[in-house]
Amino acid sequence: MTGSGPPDYTAFAPHYDSWFAPSDRVTEDTVGALAGLAKSAGAGPVLELGIGTGRIALPLTARGVEVHGVDLSPAMVGQLRAKPGGRDIPVALGDFRTAEVTGGPYALVYVVNGAFAELPTQDAQVDCFARAARLLRPGGLFVLDAHVPEALAQGAPAGGQLLPTRGGETVLRFREVDRAEQRYRSHYVVLGSGPAGGAEMHRTTVSFRYAAASELDLMARLAGLRRRDRWADWTGSPFTSASAFHVSVYERPA
Ligand SMILES: C[S@@+](CC[C@H](N)C(=O)[O-])C[C@H]1O[C@@H](n2cnc3c(N)ncnc32)[C@H](O)[C@@H]1O
Repeated sequence: MTGSGPPDYTAFAPHYDSWFAPSDRVTEDTVGALAGLAKSAGAGPVLELGIGTGRIALPLTARGVEVHGVDLSPAMVGQLRAKPGGRDIPVALGDFRTAEVTGGPYALVYVVNGAFAELPTQDAQVDCFARAARLLRPGGLFVLDAHVPEALAQGAPAGGQLLPTRGGETVLRFREVDRAEQRYRSHYVVLGSGPAGGAEMHRTTVSFRYAAASELDLMARLAGLRRRDRWADWTGSPFTSASAFHVSVYERPA
């Protein structure tokens, strides 16, 4: 992963699930919420933008949802393909704003775990909403998660934040927020043991463009979508002025 431009997950794809994925609990909640939304959106396949290693797509498939995906990283999709059932999910390799996908129209299109904010400009994010709207059938839903900008700007701790991992490594994240550019960068430092038992350190940076919830709503409106729900987390907790994160659900009018 790099500091600017499209993210490059090549070096870190084998470690993504262990180092960079949220806790198992958050993954379960995400899958549960998306399964419910897919059901409420009616019949038809669903599409994950930035499907990555299949952290969400595989358990969602196991719940009986037909999941398709798009991703620009062959290394991340390689991780998906290596998992049981990973070869059965149709995946288009390319940018999710433009890559050709053939399985639609979709009942649900979703982009999670910050993948939307990896789009580096407002234009790219507007294009993503427009693409999602075109891929949905009438009545279909577009779902994304995002940080609340005020919480990002105020909450960046001076030190690093220790993240949960699935292996024995220690992952520290240092966030840097640039309010003028409406961007934040997450610097990750991973400390682990090397093959000979010695200490090993990795470092990478991911760059994001953040947008206020109201800006996202406007992007939706430009795309012909309307907001149906906004939650504070994947369990559906109410979104309040204290919320630091949101899950937003948009609908293509029937
Ligand atoms: C943070 S990972 C999330 C992976 C997966 N959605 C999850 O929740 O575990 C972001 C993924 O989105 C992909 N990605 C980011 N920007 C993309 C774009 N413009 N087009 C296609 N894939 C993109 C990356 O290659 C990576 O696999």
